[in-house]
Amino acid sequence: MVRLKSPEDIEKIRQAGQIINLVFEILKGKIRPEIDTLSLDNLIEDFIRSHNARPAFKGYRGYPAASCISVNDEVVHGIPSRDKVLKDGDIVGIDIGVELGGYYADAAYTFGVGSVAEEDKRLMEATYNALMNAINKAKTAKYIGDISYTIQRTVEKAGFSVVRDFIGHGVGFEIHEPPSVPNYGRPGTGERIRPGLVIAIEPMVNAGTWEVDIDREDKWTVRTKDRKKSAHYEHTIAILEKGVIILT
Ligand code: MF3
Ligand code: CO
Repeated sequence: MVRLKSPEDIEKIRQAGQIINLVFEILKGKIRPEIDTLSLDNLIEDFIRSHNARPAFKGYRGYPAASCISVNDEVVHGIPSRDKVLKDGDIVGIDIGVELGGYYADAAYTFGVGSVAEEDKRLMEATYNALMNAINKAKTAKYIGDISYTIQRTVEKAGFSVVRDFIGHGVGFEIHEPPSVPNYGRPGTGERIRPGLVIAIEPMVNAGTWEVDIDREDKWTVRTKDRKKSAHYEHTIAILEKGVIILT
């Protein structure tokens, strides 16, 4: 069951979302060669808690950290570690969920480390464009499938592929709620879009094949099957009577 949000609910989700935006601003200045991903996660957790909020991923289905930090061929759910040290040319996806007073927001951003290869910049740009085109589409879309189709078309036109095994979702009262928001699909399919709907749109885009593997040891880290790079951007948005607002 999709639970629609009131304007008051949406304002509270936005406040949770603003904490994520602030932490991404700080991260911009911290991401450089030689920093390890656990240090970034500690910074994220401290920042969230200093705002009387909670990192929503920590403890979710046993997930051990405040954020997911996925480097290069890691698609999503990379576990921060002292041993994962960033180096020049890496691309690093950081996914953060925040709970503030019982309301949840979710966002992700892919950063380049030092000087990034042209092809990797193109991958990041196509993924970001897919997210932004999807948000724009949400202003007039009638079905979730209209959004999904927009993402898939943007990505495939650029020559990349969309991950099938992980998708966007409703968010707000919980970190993951119905409806499903796939990054591929056909217009006119899926849940109807209506005012009060709050969703996290999160294209995960691979340079090569869309197929992925889950790490056998940690059971979390998702990697591209061909070990080519992957990018991920995510915003939490609300559908209103008139248009959409980005809450993160
Ligand atoms: N990547 C997921 C999302 O953005 C959230 C991670 S769930 C966790 O919806 F368990 F890894 F925390
Ligand atoms: Co999400």
